[in-house]
Amino acid sequence: MTEEIDRLVQELQEELLRGYSERLKDEFLSPQNLGRIKDSNSHVSVTGVCGDTIEMDLLIRDGTIHDIKFMTDGCGPTIACASYVTRAAKGRTLEEALQITPEDVDTYFEGLPEEHKHCAKLSVMTLRAAIENYRSKSAGTTKSGKVKGFL
Ligand code: FES
Repeated sequence: MTEEIDRLVQELQEELLRGYSERLKDEFLSPQNLGRIKDSNSHVSVTGVCGDTIEMDLLIRDGTIHDIKFMTDGCGPTIACASYVTRAAKGRTLEEALQITPEDVDTYFEGLPEEHKHCAKLSVMTLRAAIENYRSKSAGTTKSGKVKGFL
């Protein structure tokens, strides 16, 4: 009975991960920078048209992303894409972080499955919204930090 359940779980995992590159599987199964930053100076919540949401916190010091974390209720590729975007942005200046594109994410993962291309876009747009939110707050223009139907 246990062997049968193990086999069933294995089959379900294989089905779930079909079409995922090794990099995508690895990042999805071991995501980096998950969580919240208690003393962040920017927090945003961005919901894509698919209904998935990414929340992101930035801790910016001297124009550099000192720390960055995310949470999501999204799919596996969303977890992987947000993880990659946070890794790519950490330690970068705001200008450098703004250069990260959905195409960079897609390339890193050796081509996301077609139905998950927008996960890269949601991740990058969340980073951009977090940076814009920080800049607005710094300039004295308050923002709610919530963005809906962004894509
Ligand atoms: Fe919507 Fe991944 S399926 S962001």
